[in-house]
Amino acid sequence: MRRKLVVGNWKMNGSRAANAELLAGLNAAGPWTADVAVCAPFPYLGDVALSLQGGRIGWGAQDCSAHESGAFTGEVSAAMLAEFGCRFVIVGHSERRALHGESDQLVADKAKAALAHKLTPIVCVGETLAEREAGETDHVVKRQLSAVIHTLGHCVPQIVVAYEPVWAIGTGKTATPEQAQAVHALLRAQLHAATTKSDEMLILYGGSMKPDNAAQLLGQADIDGGLIGGASLKAADFAAICKAAG
Ligand code: G3P
Repeated sequence: MRRKLVVGNWKMNGSRAANAELLAGLNAAGPWTADVAVCAPFPYLGDVALSLQGGRIGWGAQDCSAHESGAFTGEVSAAMLAEFGCRFVIVGHSERRALHGESDQLVADKAKAALAHKLTPIVCVGETLAEREAGETDHVVKRQLSAVIHTLGHCVPQIVVAYEPVWAIGTGKTATPEQAQAVHALLRAQLHAATTKSDEMLILYGGSMKPDNAAQLLGQADIDGGLIGGASLKAADFAAICKAAG
């Protein structure tokens, strides 16, 4: 039995005051049995750590460098994130793939750098609307995951995968539970071919998950949690999703 995981991806939102209010709301909410975490912008990680330490909500970042250290202006290393108590780091979010030209291999290298510092990489995969309409969904997500599998080898079971159809992100359009489950099953089969531990691995769904559709999505056999954007910015909405996860 896999324990569900719900992760908030704040993206480039928030302020010190707004974050304090949001985290106070989350600390007071509950109960839920799922694992829960929030991925905050880099400058806020110290504040987030102070607000959440010792509690039941974990935290993480939204990206990391594939490099250890050195002349990489603007980059943040996995070692730095570990110093701030991060448990997770999102890698390969479609916004970074699209806006920063991140390749499948770079995403895999970032996942490897995260694991080297005992962070759990949440590796995002997902197709664009054009790719879905061209019938390329399976090919695209398999290609994206394949780079990670080949780069990580026996460490593959240590990652979390997130299926985020690009056309469902921030659009209010959600994949139907059946559409999402079909891709999750495909990803699980790909993991199964790579490791004997595929049944223990978590595959999250992301893309306009909200309190009113969370239970149905999370009720699918291979959907093990959510990666939540917009709805993670309101304590009541995020808490409702966490509760829907169990
Ligand atoms: O990483 C979360 C994500 O991209 C989904 O965003 O706003 O559609 O929940 P949203």
